[in-house]
Amino acid sequence: MMRSVKSLVKRWKTAGTGVAVLLILRALVPAPVWPQELPETQLEEEIAKQGKIFQGRGAEVPSGYVTNRGLSDYADLLPTGFCDALGRLGNSDRWLDIGAGAAQAILDYYAPAGNTAPAEKCALSVSKARAVAMSIEDRRTDKWRKQAANVGNDRIRYLAGKSLRHYSLEELGKFQIITDVFGGFTYTADLSRFVDKVLNLLEVRGEFYTLAPGVHLEGGDKLGTWYLTELENAAGRPEKVCSWLKKATCVKVTCESKNDWKRPTELIKIEKVCSDVSVPRMKLLEFVAGYPPDRRFQLEP
Ligand SMILES: C[S@@+](CC[C@H](N)C(=O)[O-])C[C@H]1O[C@@H](n2cnc3c(N)ncnc32)[C@H](O)[C@@H]1O
Repeated sequence: MMRSVKSLVKRWKTAGTGVAVLLILRALVPAPVWPQELPETQLEEEIAKQGKIFQGRGAEVPSGYVTNRGLSDYADLLPTGFCDALGRLGNSDRWLDIGAGAAQAILDYYAPAGNTAPAEKCALSVSKARAVAMSIEDRRTDKWRKQAANVGNDRIRYLAGKSLRHYSLEELGKFQIITDVFGGFTYTADLSRFVDKVLNLLEVRGEFYTLAPGVHLEGGDKLGTWYLTELENAAGRPEKVCSWLKKATCVKVTCESKNDWKRPTELIKIEKVCSDVSVPRMKLLEFVAGYPPDRRFQLEP
């Protein structure tokens, strides 16, 4: 029942119907009673729908599924300090962008000297880190192929065909900076395993920069929010994404709450401060495919 209501609302939201409708619907629909476990077949169905969204091409790509944000967009969407951190990287350092789409941000980073327009909000140094773009579907453009040929495949790489969890740590190596802009952190059905993998891929003192749209904010919520990602503790009470992340070991988590954005969004920076990382496990209770999907997780006792 709840899943069909959520799917219906999702269709309305996608069609651009406003907050007022959501508020009315919320008043009419009784408070959800979430199942303890998401039935396997429902999850498979939703994951299959999600796969179709990822694989869409041309006119099938919904306008809300944006895959070509540039470095200036990353500067706007990621926590303060991202551009400075990127600018400090040296030649032998490594940057991984998870959920890179067309990898425009990496193209901007490697744009020929003098071509400052694409990265105007991110002042960068001359030395450049090696950059790895990761996307489930291959969205490489001719521009990518040309630039990769110019700068060399050892400087920029594009990995496609599978999600983060299917790569081994040995295959990927370690990174000084990992970014995720509407990538795996927003789309994964296994949030705790995703974060655990990211932290294991970071060098100690390395940093993960991401954002969480449509979540309960550390700095307080806005009335009438439709949450995209909801977390709850083992007793079933709401848990904020930042308070959950702060329970992980060997990390320093900083959150910037964006209460005035269209969707209340938490900008998140996680610094790995020692090697023995462990992330409190979350189990999936609800997943409705979309761009982004609606997800609900519960902390395991
Ligand atoms: C909406 S696009 C965002 C692309 C880019 N970051 C941008 O802002 O333009 C989502 C991207 O995340 C990728 N993605 C989603 N889940 C992922 C996962 N678990 N591992 C790797 N990539 C993932 C998709 O394949 C796609 O490249």
